[in-house]
Amino acid sequence: MTGGAGFIGSELVRQLHARGDRVVIVDTLVNGRRENVDDILGDRVALDTTDIRDTGRLAAILPRVRIVFHLACLGVRHSIHAPQENHEVNATATLRLLEVCRAAGVPRFVYVSSSEVYGTARWVPMTEDHPTSPCTVYGASKLAGESYTRAYYRTYGYPTVVVRPFNTYGPRSHHEGDSGEVIPKFLLRTLAGRPLIVFGDGSQTRDFTYVSDTAGGILKAGEHDRTPGETINLGSGAEIAINDLAATIARVAGRPVTVEHDVMRPGDILRLCADVTRAAGLLDYRPRVTLEDGVRRLMAWYTSLAVDPDTLLEDEVVRNWTVPQPQ
Ligand SMILES: NC(=O)c1ccc[n+]([C@@H]2O[C@H](COP(=O)([O-])OP(=O)(O)OC[C@H]3O[C@@H](n4cnc5c(N)ncnc54)[C@H](O)[C@@H]3O)[C@@H](O)[C@H]2O)c1
Repeated sequence: MTGGAGFIGSELVRQLHARGDRVVIVDTLVNGRRENVDDILGDRVALDTTDIRDTGRLAAILPRVRIVFHLACLGVRHSIHAPQENHEVNATATLRLLEVCRAAGVPRFVYVSSSEVYGTARWVPMTEDHPTSPCTVYGASKLAGESYTRAYYRTYGYPTVVVRPFNTYGPRSHHEGDSGEVIPKFLLRTLAGRPLIVFGDGSQTRDFTYVSDTAGGILKAGEHDRTPGETINLGSGAEIAINDLAATIARVAGRPVTVEHDVMRPGDILRLCADVTRAAGLLDYRPRVTLEDGVRRLMAWYTSLAVDPDTLLEDEVVRNWTVPQPQ
């Protein structure tokens, strides 16, 4: 699994480990953390810090692999200040990985794409046939990655599948640096008694999915017989505005919050909501964790870390993107 020390990857590794499977994690730890998987490393789970761009070294691992779950990537805010590198990792390395996996005869390849490939919804809920019109280089590079993945199925008959998770949250999610996401940032700020910073007017919507549901869907996409050649949304099917998310987090945490508005993020998507009918039919995918319950679980996880929220927030960058001057 590439990216298996990251947020979603580490949950997927845990689900595979719990079933008794063997996993090789390939992750440079640029954004992932050894601590995310430390407790399960051993006979059945190994961590290899090879860069996915180094396909020559990956080829040695592949002959023993039954499924490649490809999650490694650089994120949306990274793409704003480093578009070339974002493309190299998310798109070019995916194409090269497909080639070495096919050459090694790996029986199944799962590409973990993103709802960012859609851009702002033209209508909701969004089926997989909704037009793709990404707003960022990240979204564009993920669309390239998934297009290469489908092309390998259509041109070579290589059994690939594409999944498109919508915004995911839960334990081991990122609040820090340019990886920081809205739910962990809002929750930690709520617990620390700080204002929640909303970029733009807060009317933009997202479809939030708890990480065990997202990872469970990815796992099934790798195993079901009917998935090769398919592109499958993984979301909750519920839409919430960022202003309402702030209110929900305050309610669940039982703390009053104040909201401050800051500039809109460049390339921000205004509306997202998944239609998960295909996932339900093909994978028997049923997201189980409601937003309230998921926020409660994330809060319990932060409590289990026994680290003061203010200490965790030392790694937060509030406005966590930079727009460089053209070269
Ligand atoms: N988190 C979300 O809300 C979300 C939503 C939709 C799709 N996704 C997709 O899910 C996947 C996992 O996302 P995540 O949120 O867990 O992100 P993450 O950053 O936690 O995980 C990505 C992992 O890839 C690793 N990595 C980056 N570049 C690498 C390279 N060159 N070689 C090897 N490893 C490298 C990082 O160290 C990190 O551990 C990504 O493909 C992402 O596009 C995530």
